[in-house]
Amino acid sequence: MNPIKVKENIYRLGSIDWDRRMFDALIPLPDGTSYNAYLIKGSEKTVLIDTDEPSMKEEFMKQLEMVDKLDYIVSLHAEQDHSGCIPFVLEKFPEAKVVVSPKCKGMEMDLLHLPEDVFITVGDGETLSLGNRTLRFVHTPWVHWPETMTAYLEEERILFSCDFFGSHLATSDLFVKDKIKVYEAAKRYYAEIMMPFRRIISKNLQKVLALDIDMIAPSHGPIYREPALIIEAHKEWVDAPPKNLVVLPYISMHESTRLMVEHLVGALIDRGVEVQQFNLEVVDLGKLAIALVDAATVVIASPTVLGGPHPAAVYAAYLANALRPKVKFISVMGSYGWADRSVPVLSGLVKDMKAEILEPVVQKGAPTEETFQAIDRLADDIAAKHKEEGLVG
Ligand code: FEO
Repeated sequence: MNPIKVKENIYRLGSIDWDRRMFDALIPLPDGTSYNAYLIKGSEKTVLIDTDEPSMKEEFMKQLEMVDKLDYIVSLHAEQDHSGCIPFVLEKFPEAKVVVSPKCKGMEMDLLHLPEDVFITVGDGETLSLGNRTLRFVHTPWVHWPETMTAYLEEERILFSCDFFGSHLATSDLFVKDKIKVYEAAKRYYAEIMMPFRRIISKNLQKVLALDIDMIAPSHGPIYREPALIIEAHKEWVDAPPKNLVVLPYISMHESTRLMVEHLVGALIDRGVEVQQFNLEVVDLGKLAIALVDAATVVIASPTVLGGPHPAAVYAAYLANALRPKVKFISVMGSYGWADRSVPVLSGLVKDMKAEILEPVVQKGAPTEETFQAIDRLADDIAAKHKEEGLVG
């Protein structure tokens, strides 16, 4: 792929990773991803914003053949999918300085073994003149690591946002074309990467919204020429109350837990509560994460096996807890053969969500009429709590 012109003397470089299916060996990428870098030529200085994933080095260094002289590499984020090619760029342009936030400097010395004297650190709000163009740096910690910042090109009103506002989407589109597809990919990306830092992201959102933005150029996925699409989506994901929605991850061994889950799903629908059921045997955990962005209640259902909850339920509970969604209520359901250990273990795993625990429903053996009545009471409780909170779909 050759560099693609975004505007006069502004190019997108980097690569499209069509085949990547996991990120950080954790996050499923059903639609691949891209690693975007940007080259800006000013009347006096030329700057490269971010680089590329190291495995894409060859293609990336070929793109830099169009550059005669490079003054700065602005590194917005130390994670290697953006910083990994900095050492190779410095080999080609040894006079270039790496412009980073103070925290990023130490991280890149550790991660990339770069010498201290290649760095220039910039404070929040500081500017860098390229001659006829000016980059202003806005520190936005925790989008996605603590050192992250964004860069605003004042004259063109372009926000280079790195991971912030990104989407894991491999596409040949330079700009957003299929809005529904990008929205879904961006929501998955937000759920998996940003949601745990929601409170600080809310502050960062206010900070960048103070800028007059014409275009958002992230380091993953296509560029937004209509930034309202992704800004409004983030306002809702980050700050709006959760919806009248129950998310129900479950696993079943001999049908008992499945029958309980199916009964709860029907009971919730009867009471006007939206529900999304995820079978953990086959689930794409990214879809579960997306649902957690909006969920007011989570009910985890698992049989007791090997002296505790099923490992798949443990993983789902751990992940949900780590993602820190807006969830307000949690409950647990399941069946056991001779001793129950699922409820205490699963309840302990979701403590950081700080949600109210609703009465669990646990059954010895196959569910009975009394079990289904207990599930109806749980559904009543959930519907009443959602109503009290004024939650809507
Ligand atoms: Fe795209 Fe946090 O790296």
